[in-house]
Amino acid sequence: MRGVHLESLSTLNYRNLAPDTLSFPAGVTGVFGENGAGKTNLLEAAYLALTGLTDVTRLEQLVQAGEKEAYVRADLDSGGSLSIQEVGLGRGRRQLKVDGVRVRGGDLPRGSAVWIRPEDSELVFGPPAGRRAYLDALLSRLSARYAQQLARYERTVSQRNAALKSGEEWAMPVWDDTLVKLGTEIMLFRRRALTRLSELAAEANAALGSRKALVLALTESTTPATYARDLGGRRAEELARGSTVTGPHRDDLSLTLGGFPATEYASRGEGRTIALALRRAELELLAERFGEKPVLLIDDFSAELDPARRAYLLELAASVPQAIVTGTERAPGAARTFRAHAGRFTPEHAPQAELDTAADLTEAKNEANEVNA
Ligand SMILES: Nc1ncnc2c1ncn2[C@@H]1O[C@H](COP(=O)(O)OP(=O)(O)OP(=O)(O)O)[C@@H](O)[C@H]1O
Ligand SMILES: [Mg+2]
Repeated sequence: MRGVHLESLSTLNYRNLAPDTLSFPAGVTGVFGENGAGKTNLLEAAYLALTGLTDVTRLEQLVQAGEKEAYVRADLDSGGSLSIQEVGLGRGRRQLKVDGVRVRGGDLPRGSAVWIRPEDSELVFGPPAGRRAYLDALLSRLSARYAQQLARYERTVSQRNAALKSGEEWAMPVWDDTLVKLGTEIMLFRRRALTRLSELAAEANAALGSRKALVLALTESTTPATYARDLGGRRAEELARGSTVTGPHRDDLSLTLGGFPATEYASRGEGRTIALALRRAELELLAERFGEKPVLLIDDFSAELDPARRAYLLELAASVPQAIVTGTERAPGAARTFRAHAGRFTPEHAPQAELDTAADLTEAKNEANEVNA
């Protein structure tokens, strides 16, 4: 399968990055350098330019200290056509353009990149909200309808909560109708997607060298068939607490490794492996949905992983059409390597190319000796 290709990334006033345009070949690009060099910032900028997405809530954080606005631009090849995606960031404001035309977030191609980072372990060890966010973000990228209904559902929950807090019991039947309609659609969508997602995650977990089976399941606070009844039954409690206590905003994506709940029992490295499996499943689902492989961004490839799992991760990077891999040490086998230092990225000759040259020289010398002998 072919993939999205990030030809180049330009940044201006983005965090600590020096203004620059970096070009990326097909295959693996390695970025290495000391702590604080800007490696994570580079991947974050690439992810933002490719997808329009960021999980930073205060956009000002992304703007270089002392500046007012920041800008990132991706020149990419997707489905055989070239396009330019630009993101401008100002105070609490994000402006997106594709080929010079302003677009809304939902209009950017949604399958262009997957970002893997050490913080993904929080998906495993953290509270349900993180796992829900993973699932919701993925399903929103797979389906614009899901994104829309989820946004409506979330708005309904917060308005309904406000009504509960003001004790508007009379208004509840109307709120319940809307909530049940939207919530049911979300539950059904999640259930459908989970079948394929758990297959892919289980496969990925095995491919990453784990001998324990990974099982994904939804832990639901209610069901499509009983949602309306469950809400009615907890009316008094809801009015007392001033919040909506049942529905898909309370559900969890439970992860079981070798028969034990991973959140409580998995080791750190096992947890990171599960997180990797979730990201790999995300990559595969996006590829199935959009017909091309996303660019794979891997931050800190060696963090928390034993040598075998690190090798699996590098294998994964090598198996997709394009990947950018950062670390405090060089990623072996990269087509291009950048050395990161103080927000700047300097390409260096791939060590492999140097070795080849050295080998060629030795061979040439031997040949010369044979001729002379
Ligand atoms: N808005 C900003 N303006 C200026 N500098 C910033 C801004 N946001 C973050 N930085 C700085 O960017 C630097 C690089 O951060 P980054 O996380 O990219 O480093 P890194 O190379 O990934 O390091 P590590 O190996 O520790 O993960 C940090 O020192 C941070 O202080
Ligand atoms: Mg980092």
